Amino acid sequence: MTDTREKTIREIAIENPSSVRVFETLGIDYCCGGKRTLNDACIRANVQLESVLDLVAKAGQHQPAEGAGVWNEARLSVLTDHIVKAHHDYVRRETPRITALLVTVIGRHGNARPEIRQIEELFTALSQELFTHMLKEEQVLFPYIAKMESAFLDGQSLLPAFFGSVTKPIANMLADHDDAGALLSRMHELSNGYEPPAGSCPTFRALYQGLQEFERDLHLHVHLENNILFTRAIEMETSVIEPACVAV
Ligand SMILES: [Fe+2]
Ligand SMILES: [Fe+2]
Repeated sequence: MTDTREKTIREIAIENPSSVRVFETLGIDYCCGGKRTLNDACIRANVQLESVLDLVAKAGQHQPAEGAGVWNEARLSVLTDHIVKAHHDYVRRETPRITALLVTVIGRHGNARPEIRQIEELFTALSQELFTHMLKEEQVLFPYIAKMESAFLDGQSLLPAFFGSVTKPIANMLADHDDAGALLSRMHELSNGYEPPAGSCPTFRALYQGLQEFERDLHLHVHLENNILFTRAIEMETSVIEPACVAV
């Protein structure tokens, strides 16, 4: 049996969905950085491995964080429906609310807190990228994965899609996730981990709380795609499409 220290973050998050709460709290990257071992991830996040092991073991005794259920066994089409309803809809709902808060906070505190203008630019870039990215997933990648799964369950084979192997759109989505992760990290740094300055007004606090929740939600969203959906779709493709038919 592999020592938990040497397991990847992805493996731990799948086996113990409640561990994502611990990773989120400690600033351990469990979505784009899911391939790192726990040991490496702890060094990178500058946290003590033994205390993380303890927290992860304790987290396993509780209910998973909302949305971080056991998706490794679910049908892929059920998982994609969940991603759209829980996470894509959340981004579409929260973006205008956070944008309005940014406008208000810049109007009142923009001169005293110049970092808010930088955060606004980063959030605008992030939301624009996300809107295009989600459309690509909903219109191309997710329907293809559903079709592939249906062929797999019926024991049928499937002709390759216009893009060839599913690994191609997935590689594009992974690159987008890395870009989004970099924008989130920069906002996190500029806002000092979304810690409002002492004496901040309620709107300022609401803005940072909204951005922090947005970050948490996006981490979970990317974890479900990178570590579960995409990995399982790539594995499934080898059973449904003749290797000779897959354009490399
Ligand atoms: Fe998505
Ligand atoms: Fe995505």
